Amino acid sequence: MQNPVGKFLAKQLANPSGFWAVLVARSMNRANRLMYDEALNLLNPAREERWLELGFGSGLHIGELLDRYTIHHYTGTEISSAMLQMAQKANRLAVQAGKVDLKLGADSLKSLNTASYDSILSINTVYFWTNPDTVLQNLYKLSKPGGKLVLAWNSTEFLAKQSYARQFQKYSLKELQAKVEQQGWSASTGSKVHKGKQSFCMLKAVKT
Ligand SMILES: C[S@@+](CC[C@H](N)C(=O)[O-])C[C@H]1O[C@@H](n2cnc3c(N)ncnc32)[C@H](O)[C@@H]1O
Repeated sequence: MQNPVGKFLAKQLANPSGFWAVLVARSMNRANRLMYDEALNLLNPAREERWLELGFGSGLHIGELLDRYTIHHYTGTEISSAMLQMAQKANRLAVQAGKVDLKLGADSLKSLNTASYDSILSINTVYFWTNPDTVLQNLYKLSKPGGKLVLAWNSTEFLAKQSYARQFQKYSLKELQAKVEQQGWSASTGSKVHKGKQSFCMLKAVKT
């Protein structure tokens, strides 16, 4: 049986809420920094791109992203209203300027225009997708032809050691790569990153 702390943490990571949301967000920012760096290196936008992120968390990375790359527009979706509020506060000026659009709800993907994003990313969210095939299919529809998808998630070995992750849906690189390709994405390349105690998978695919 999962201990109560592990259970609580799992719930917060899946959908941060209430008093603890800020603390959870801070710890996610620290822990997931390397994953974001690796994902951004893979996406490496060369021109004015339209970006979509599923599960942006506190959204503190969005400002840095806009500073570092010539991104034309960023859209993000979240299911946590606490995370949405934090991200709106952190990116107030960019939201007001219409450069950043932050949406609440898993279904908000359906409200977006198809074939309109150059780069799509999602970091540490795959464990919580109730229907991964539908999510990957929706992302495929939203991508422009030639658009890129990057996913990053903790490896099964890493998650096996975390008591909070017992109920997480865990994926090997091969398993998620197969799912991504089943939904039409092609030219997928995967890699595993091991650094210190971290061990995670990175997957990049293209809509051809
Ligand atoms: C572990 S956190 C990761 C946050 C951030 N991407 C990071 O790596 O620091 C997972 C986030 O995904 C959000 N989330 C989970 N399922 C989602 C879904 N179907 N659509 C959008 N956001 C989702 C949660 O609310 C949570 O903020």
